[in-house]
Amino acid sequence: MSKTQVNGSDLLNIPLEEFDAPLFQTLLGYVRQHALRFHMPGHKGGLGFPPEVAEAFKRNVLAIDVTETRGMDNLHLPSGCIRQAQDLAAQTFGADRTFFLTNGTTAGVHAMIMTTCKEGQKIVIPRDAHLSVIGGVILAGLQPVFVYPDVDPEWGVSVGVPTREYERALSEHPDAKACLITRPNYYGMAGDLSVLVELCHDHGIPLLVDEAHGPHIHLHEAMPRSALSYGADMVVQSTHKTLGSLTGSSMLHIKGERIHPDRVQRMLAILQSTSPSYLLMASIDITATLMRLRGHDLVERAIRLSDKARERLSHVPGVRVLSRPVMDKCKLSVSMIELGLAGFELKNRLMDEHNARVELADFENVIAFVTYADTEGDVDALVDAMIRVAEEARSERAAAGPSSRKRGDQARFTQHLFAPAERAMLPRQATLAAHELARLHDSPGRVCAEVVAPYPPGIPLLYPGEIIDQSHLEIIEEAISLGAVFRGLAAGPNGQLIVTVVKAGKS
Ligand SMILES: Cc1ncc(COP(=O)(O)O)c(C=O)c1O
Repeated sequence: MSKTQVNGSDLLNIPLEEFDAPLFQTLLGYVRQHALRFHMPGHKGGLGFPPEVAEAFKRNVLAIDVTETRGMDNLHLPSGCIRQAQDLAAQTFGADRTFFLTNGTTAGVHAMIMTTCKEGQKIVIPRDAHLSVIGGVILAGLQPVFVYPDVDPEWGVSVGVPTREYERALSEHPDAKACLITRPNYYGMAGDLSVLVELCHDHGIPLLVDEAHGPHIHLHEAMPRSALSYGADMVVQSTHKTLGSLTGSSMLHIKGERIHPDRVQRMLAILQSTSPSYLLMASIDITATLMRLRGHDLVERAIRLSDKARERLSHVPGVRVLSRPVMDKCKLSVSMIELGLAGFELKNRLMDEHNARVELADFENVIAFVTYADTEGDVDALVDAMIRVAEEARSERAAAGPSSRKRGDQARFTQHLFAPAERAMLPRQATLAAHELARLHDSPGRVCAEVVAPYPPGIPLLYPGEIIDQSHLEIIEEAISLGAVFRGLAAGPNGQLIVTVVKAGKS
């Protein structure tokens, strides 16, 4: 093991407290807060690594940040240790071939699309896709054919796109070259894929799956079945989200004969850096190895922690927890809307009053990510905090009367989010056209030039090339007033919201 090396130059002698690097100091500040981390990444501050491995990793973190020097293999032409690590990961996750990604699932989504579709062709994509999907459509210059998700009537959130929607899309567009589905979604919903796989293959096209939220589901029988186990052709997973690798590290898997690995490798060579981070790659290797050795039991542990939290919360008046027979049980979705608390407000109260950070909030719900790296004490502390917030909200309601927030708010938002919008031009045309900035208020009738999406979850409300209308304005303003954060909107003078639109008369 390497000792900490000291360069010896006086020039490097700067005390940490005087080293005013804004980002680094902010991160150190976050560590000092000792927040309850129920957000990504899944390793929860390193607790997801085996202790001896974590120790070796931390001690050598700078020393193992290397490049393709002899013996270190090459991500873009792997034949040595990287290829061995990828092949072992493929076995663990049920793939024929696995590619490590150092630019997140985003790069994998782009690679899936660019591998399977050529300029001008059609691809069937879900309206509840993450914005990386439209990025791939823009890069490849495709025509998107949208399919629409069903909405859970009780929770107001997507349960995923039903197969009948893909049937409709393929009968209207038999020339589509691939279908893409997001599964499981942020809330852990995951439908059956068997008929969809068959449908795609009967049409002679591949099924691409954005399994960003499901790298762990293959490892345990109590979880929804993984896309690869159904026979999906390409599947991308954010290893950093629900397993334990470093942020930005993901895996792209392929299975079967429809996808040629050399073409995938070529696309990835275009989409990823020629200097991929060995730290990120090593963290994928560590996580995949851990899953090979202990995956089932670790995922079982996460399920047990999450089930216990669900069980405790289910007894608290006014609190609802999402539970379905088939779902990712590690996603803990909680609603206090019956106590008048919007999800955004619940998220803020947990953070401001209880030092507990959850992953996502919407109009009614919050989602906490539970992983095998969580301690029982931390999960208990999160539940205690939620119970306290619920008690306070109940007393506030008793004193102040009913809140304006109510059940149905999220379903209303979701309806807007997934509504078909009028398209004036293709996403790539709109992205590359001349742009100008417009006040959101003045933008109805204009062509949106950039994705506008609440983030997280990053599901676009408006896609480039779509026409902005009054209803978009109203829902954006309401969401922002409650605490939603949008990608694709900027704050202008006097707090006016600014949106990027295609310059009038240009294309
Ligand atoms: C469904 C989905 N797909 C893709 C992505 C992109 O993943 P990454 O952040 O690993 O690039 C995300 C990120 O949140 C996501 O939620």
